[in-house]
Amino acid sequence: MNSELIEKINTLKKEKNAVIMAHYYQNNDIQDIADVIGDSLALAQWATKTNADMIVVCGVHFMGETAKILSPEKKVFVPDLNAGCSLADSCPADAFEKFIQQHPDHTVVSYVNTTANVKALTDVVVTSSNARKIIDQLPQDAKIIFGPDKNLGNYINSVTSRKMVLWNGGCHVHEQFSLEKLIELKKQYPNAKILAHPECKTPILAMADVVGSTQALLLYTQQNNAQEFLIATESGILHEMQKKSPNKHFIPIPPIDSTCGCNECNYMKINTLKKLYNCLKNETPEILIDAETQKKAIRPILKMLEMSK
Ligand code: 13P
Ligand code: SF4
Repeated sequence: MNSELIEKINTLKKEKNAVIMAHYYQNNDIQDIADVIGDSLALAQWATKTNADMIVVCGVHFMGETAKILSPEKKVFVPDLNAGCSLADSCPADAFEKFIQQHPDHTVVSYVNTTANVKALTDVVVTSSNARKIIDQLPQDAKIIFGPDKNLGNYINSVTSRKMVLWNGGCHVHEQFSLEKLIELKKQYPNAKILAHPECKTPILAMADVVGSTQALLLYTQQNNAQEFLIATESGILHEMQKKSPNKHFIPIPPIDSTCGCNECNYMKINTLKKLYNCLKNETPEILIDAETQKKAIRPILKMLEMSK
């Protein structure tokens, strides 16, 4: 029973001075029990501020790694270590290192959806919330490598007039949104605003009224007067959107190959309330990063936090 499990989780949390951080794509019951929910940037910022001894990151592996890199003295857990990320997987560190060597005079900017080893090769990390702001602070004539998400990279190139060299990576969820189904839905809901995450392909972004991180899209739904919103990001975000604006109508844009109406990240949904409980109880699975990688990877993340103030 969920209510028993929730009680046990709350008791363990107090006993162990643990904090539960969840991403907006997590299952609804995890979002509801979390101490904080946020986008990748917010989760990283909280990881630097918490006084807890244990951080349970209910999200995917790179989010746990980011928290551990920032707080190496704390125990950091992800309820299921199989919670990976197709975007991080599309950029192996050895291949990325060769790519950097082929562009020796370039500043290396990496999206936060990368492994600790890729971050260790990076000059500055960005998230979807701060990518534009950080790129804007780099010298206008700087040569830049951006990886791994080519859609986000193309989007940043278009809004900043840069010519960043892009790694050819992508997210298996955001690349799947169907333009045809979006056009259909817009005919059905002509007054609806279209909200898209920058990991979506260019034609979807071109139709969007707003492009932003999960947190930015959520904020837009709270501040905009529209009553209907078509959402092109992982459908977990609809839970918080609906909670914040119970009288508004949120419609997920479906993927190309599916009869179901929404687009889910199978990695994000791997974490369950039961796994969260086991994780707090048994203090496993823990995120561990060797000291040398941690030392190299923290620099571009701290630079990001500084540059996004
Ligand atoms: P946000 O940083 O916008 O929450 O995005 C994280 C992510 O994994 C998007 O797919
Ligand atoms: Fe990674 Fe895509 Fe899942 Fe985000 S939605 S965690 S980018 S696989």
